[in-house]
Amino acid sequence: MRTNGYLIAIDGTAGTGKSSVGCAVAAHLGYGFLSTGEMYRALAYKVFAKKINPEDHDAVLEAARQLRFTFMRQPDAKLKMFVDGEYLGDKLHLEEVGAVASRVSTNGEARRVLTDKMRDVGEDGGIVMEGRDVGTVVFPDAEIKFYLDASAEERAKRRVNQLKDAGQKADYNQILKMIQERDYRDSHRAVSPLKPAEDAVVIDTSSLTMQQVIDTVLEKIKHYAS
Ligand code: DC
Repeated sequence: MRTNGYLIAIDGTAGTGKSSVGCAVAAHLGYGFLSTGEMYRALAYKVFAKKINPEDHDAVLEAARQLRFTFMRQPDAKLKMFVDGEYLGDKLHLEEVGAVASRVSTNGEARRVLTDKMRDVGEDGGIVMEGRDVGTVVFPDAEIKFYLDASAEERAKRRVNQLKDAGQKADYNQILKMIQERDYRDSHRAVSPLKPAEDAVVIDTSSLTMQQVIDTVLEKIKHYAS
């Protein structure tokens, strides 16, 4: 146990509900919740705004070094993130920013800079951190680690439903192909490839509801603490 409680890592592929599960679990425990992808998105946002070429290794590294993060815990457990004093909100979730995030996150040195900043946030515990490499690289010593997965077909189905609910058109086969390509890129990249930590609890969420996943995670934490 750290000063403020456990450090709980939730990693896994995109579209498995890591954020919703992590946030609900953190709220239940009275912990903070941080989605580490937001920090990669913040770097991408700055790179995009400053018109830096995402493949320009040194310029991206310098942009990473210059980022100043501050966080404020919200009533729903989320750590609201300010970048150089500014709350960027939905701007971080623009398609263009997501695409740049995926490119800058292959910069190994910029990853190290962001990883150090993540350690500053989480080292005292009392936090659920969600991402791709929290349990393997950022906090290999996290007390409890989860790895959420689901079949590409199930994730494509969920994404199609999400888009339809938002009144947008969605092509299942196209989305499935994009998910499969992203999985391949994430798990084959040279730095911090996506894989479960050896000591992670792996949960296949394909046939589980969100509540069932939350209950499973809370049960494992209770078991660990007892
Ligand atoms: O989870 P997300 O889509 O918000 O993540 C944005 C990008 O950052 C995505 O391309 C994966 C990358 N990422 C990463 O490489 N390592 C993390 N710990 C979190 C996110």
